[in-house]
Order: sequence, then C-alpha cells, then structure tokens
Amino acid sequence: MKRMAIVLAAGQGKRMKSKLYKVLHPVCGKPLVDHVLTVMENVQCERTVVVVGHGADAVKSYLGERAEYVLQEEQLGTGHAVKQAKPLLEAEPGMTLVVCGDTPLITEASLQKLMALHEEAKAAATILTAELDDPQGYGRVIRGEDGSVRKIVEQKDCTAEEHKQREINTGTYCFDNLKLFAALEQVRNENSQQEYYLTDVISILREQGETVQAYCTKDQAEAVGVNDRLQLAAAEQLMRERINRLHMLNGVTIIDPASTNIGPDVTIGADTVIYPGTVLGGRTTVGEDCVIGPNSEIHESQLGEGVTVKHSVLTGAVVGRHSSVGPFAYLRPGARLGEDVKVGDFVEIKNASLGDGSKVSHLSYIGDARVGKNVNIGCGAITVNYDGYNKSVTEIEDDAFVGSNVNLIAPVKVGKGAYVVAGSTITHNVDDNDLAIARERQVNKPGYAEKIRARAQIKKRNAEHS
Ligand code: UD1
Ligand code: CA
Repeated sequence: MKRMAIVLAAGQGKRMKSKLYKVLHPVCGKPLVDHVLTVMENVQCERTVVVVGHGADAVKSYLGERAEYVLQEEQLGTGHAVKQAKPLLEAEPGMTLVVCGDTPLITEASLQKLMALHEEAKAAATILTAELDDPQGYGRVIRGEDGSVRKIVEQKDCTAEEHKQREINTGTYCFDNLKLFAALEQVRNENSQQEYYLTDVISILREQGETVQAYCTKDQAEAVGVNDRLQLAAAEQLMRERINRLHMLNGVTIIDPASTNIGPDVTIGADTVIYPGTVLGGRTTVGEDCVIGPNSEIHESQLGEGVTVKHSVLTGAVVGRHSSVGPFAYLRPGARLGEDVKVGDFVEIKNASLGDGSKVSHLSYIGDARVGKNVNIGCGAITVNYDGYNKSVTEIEDDAFVGSNVNLIAPVKVGKGAYVVAGSTITHNVDDNDLAIARERQVNKPGYAEKIRARAQIKKRNAEHS
C-alpha cells in the first residue's frame, strides 16, 4: 500500500516564549522536526509533506530537499493544517501517517506496529496512544463500553469524567488517505479554542461506521510533546537516556550517563570509556578503546581507535589511532592528526595536519600548517600565519625539531630533519638537516647585578626623604 506522511510544523509555539520557531528547537543537538523527519525517512514513506507556517522559510531551508512543503498561512488548528496538504495528496489511495512536528521521541518501531495494526484491521484511522501517569495537557482517548475508540477530547474540552482518562493521543496517526481528506471537510471549529481539530476526524469517521483502532505504546517517552521549555527539558532528558542506553548496550562505558550528552548521529566503538561532562555532537565518530573526557566537547570530528581526549574541545577535527589530545587543547576545523600524535596542554590547532608520531606538547598555536612525521614542536612555539590581510602556510617536514618559543613567520618551510633553535624567529626557509638560529647573542656582565641593586637603593632613599 502506498505510504505517505504529513508532518505538522506550522505552529508558532507561543508557550516556548522564543524567537526561535518551536520545531527548530534542538533536543540532543537536533531540531524537533528533524527527529520526526528522520523517523519518517526510516519507515520509508513515498511522499512526505511538511506543513509550514511560522518560520516557514527557516524550517524549509533547514530541511531542504528532504520533504515537500505546503504553507498554512493562518494557524487555525491541526485539522486545518492537514487540510493544506489536500492539493498534493487528496487523490492518492493509500495510507497516510500524520505526525506532530513537536513529538521528537516517537520511534520507528511504534510506527511499524501502528501501520501493521492499521492494515490488519482495515481501519480508516489508527491512533498511537499512550497511558500516562500524568495525562495533563494531552487529548484524551475516549472509548466506548465495548472498548473501541469513540473520540479524542482535548484537555480544554474535557468533562470531569473525561479528564480522568489516562490514555492520551500522542498526535501520531495512520489514516486511510482518501477517508482522511473526506472527513476533514466536516471538521468544525466549535470548541473552546475555536480551532479545526484533526482529532475530530476520529469521531466523524466513527459516526460514518468506519473502523478506528488505537495502538498503545508502552514507552511513555514517545508521547512527550514539546509545548514549553519544561517539556523541552523533559524531552532532552528522555532522548539523552535513550541514546546513552543504546551506546552502553553496544559496549561503551559511560561513567555518568546523566552528565554525558551524545547526539543522535554519533557513533562510538566498543570498550570506549566516556567520563562525565562530555558532549559529543554532530556526525562525530569515535573508535574502539578510546578514553574521552572528563569535560570534553567534540563536534563533527572523527577519532580513530585508542584515542585519548581530556578536558578539550574539538570541532571538525580528525584524530588518528592512539593519539592523545589535552588536557586543555583546542582542535578547530581542519585539524588532522595522524597516528600516535600528541597534542598537549594549551595547544590550539587549526587547519593543520600533523604526521604520525609528531608532538606538540605545550602552549602552541599551529594554524594553516603541514607538519610531517615525528616532528617535535617545543613549548610555546607558534606559527605566525596571519599578517592582518592574508593567511599563509607553514611547512615543517619529517623529523624536524622546532625549539621552544620559536616563531615561524609564514609562508615558511622547515626542511627534513632540520633543527630550529629555541627562541628563534624564523622568516626564511630552513633546508633539510640545517640548523637555524635567529636570536640575539647573549651578553653577560660580571657583577652587574650588585650595581643595579645599589642604584635602586639610593633611588628609594631619596624618594623617602623628599
Ligand atoms: C495536539 C493534539 C492532542 C495531542 C497532542 C500530542 C489536536 C487538536 N490536539 O495537541 O490531542 O494529545 O497534540 O502532543 O490535534 N500545528 C500546525 N498548525 C496549526 C496548529 C498546530 O501546524 O494550526 C502543529 C504545531 O506546530 C505542532 C502540532 O501541530 O507541531 C501540534 O500542535 P499543538 O498546538 O502543539 O497541539 P497540542 O495542543 O499539543
Ligand atoms: Ca504539542
């Protein structure tokens, strides 16, 4: 059967009290609507239509080609929102998943079960429901005496009796597409919010004698809809727990899951240990047997196996096997470390590669550089890559030794096995195996310290007497 999906993402999200449109608020580093769309992609819908309104351009430019879009100019309710997809989908036989863009925790597994039940029961509508300890704020699922679903009543329209119902509508449904669009024509806005509720389609279909089913998920987390910042924090926690749990079941040690934030697109190899205060985001990959943290932030980076990162920040970096980073290092985009590389304390690397076995152990800035294998860069040595107008490249070839506090004024090259003496400011290329020294010669003046002290004492006495 043809499978379609409609994602509702036009609401402003007033209760978020935010400049950012609700569905673009991130949970575990990824916007709400992206979580929902990812699940839609996993269940392989032939067409996915996102209903946009508030922040339409922002939502469209974020999601790009991943969906088709329809604009809901005025937000007159969820039923009205779905109706906007009519010109695109109305005539298509098949089934249509409708999902709210603010329920990031729905799972592929539940959607599969929802669709299976829908097909098996030849239903006109099948609702994904959940039983909540606290159903506050959600639409209640009202069943008849025979146990079948009668209708959904919004919290604000509930009678005292309906209020007590703990089975709620998660806002995810599977519909017979043709019946959905036909029923939407009959939805009225005579309710406390004067909105066209999608949920009214359920009672309309029932009154027409159609079959309505419900699949009740055991996982209460799936029901969480994000309407305010409290629910945003609740969703964040639940998503974090879900992600961390998967990694732990895959053989990753997470010392303190409550203080470890891992994005949904991160992969981590077995036997890696993650210490508290670690944030892993974007499309980061971490190999096996790594030790990450404490207190490290890693985004869009690739770490090979056996890598150590302590108290450090990495964005857009590549770190080869058995290399170590930190404590207190900063790897910026384009940092590429080979194998067995050491980047130590207070070192910043930007757009620079370091070959296998090289070491930058302390207090360095290496930017726009190509550093070969087994190079040693001494404490405080830096590349001077910027003259206020242009960035220039520094090249340091294999086995070179750069002493402490060296300034390498780019563009400049230090050849293979060359030796640059500590404290030098290097403005010219150094050939292979040469030694470069570029600093003032030292002068010692015997006993001169005594003279200076005597002079200082006289000055001090004069000042006291004046
Ligand atoms: C909705 C359901 C409720 C359910 C809950 C689950 C209705 C009437 N109520 O309530 O039964 O328990 O979700 O989380 O459907 N939207 C539009 N256009 C609109 C209105 C809303 O696109 O005109 C979008 C919003 O951006 C949001 C989604 O639809 O992503 C749900 O709207 P929201 O106002 O959050 O509905 P709830 O009150 O949470
Ligand atoms: Ca909602």
